[in-house]
Amino acid sequence: MKKIIAANWKMNGSVASAKDWAKGVTSSLAKIKPDVEMVVCPPFPLISILGDELSGCPIKLGGQDCHSEKNGAYTGETAAPLLKDLGCGYVIVGHSERRHLFNESDDVVKSKALCAMDSGLIPIICIGETQKQREDGKTIEVINRQIERSVPKEAASGNFVLAYEPVWAIGSGKIPTLSEIKEVHKAIINKVSDFIAIDVAQIRVLYGGSVKPDNSGEIMAISEVCGVLVGGASLKADDFVEIAMSAYSN
Ligand code: PGA
Repeated sequence: MKKIIAANWKMNGSVASAKDWAKGVTSSLAKIKPDVEMVVCPPFPLISILGDELSGCPIKLGGQDCHSEKNGAYTGETAAPLLKDLGCGYVIVGHSERRHLFNESDDVVKSKALCAMDSGLIPIICIGETQKQREDGKTIEVINRQIERSVPKEAASGNFVLAYEPVWAIGSGKIPTLSEIKEVHKAIINKVSDFIAIDVAQIRVLYGGSVKPDNSGEIMAISEVCGVLVGGASLKADDFVEIAMSAYSN
């Protein structure tokens, strides 16, 4: 299965930095194996700019969120069909910052994922436990509940990706141990295959949370990890390229 290396810029970047980033990454593309799929999810206004800068290169574009409706009176929101129109192939839904800072429920995440799929995008559906839930031994229970409530049954077509992002690992410099990552990814794959009756070979689960060039290789060497969702380290072209190069290094 192709490894996916997805950049989540969050609310960072400018026109100038996006152009520099594109230049930096494209000049190093020859170093990256062709079976690595690179995706960049910038803030919405930078999508077209990156689309122009990356035209003709295999790097895919993605949105960081979308609405659950395809159009309408939703001031400030972005529609999945528009993302598709702008050349996006992916959209992140249910990122923990959306869930916690913007009170998005599992139900909302599910309807966004459904709208994304319906619009021809691959949703990257994020799930993950908080520090407290992990300390209380509830990680697998939380993950199972989030899968049941946020993954649409229609995902049985296989046109989706999950991202396991422990909330406490995001932007903190802390990551679970490799065996903890393996254990949770295994549990996610089992749960999804039961829940939506899909072949395990079609289930793609990324890891996200403090991924850096110095830990990405060992994380992606775990057989249940299909790639990474990278926040902070994806803003620097060199680090993002190094992470993509590490996909098959172990
Ligand atoms: P981080 O963010 O790599 O900065 O921890 C990951 C994410 O939020 O997707």
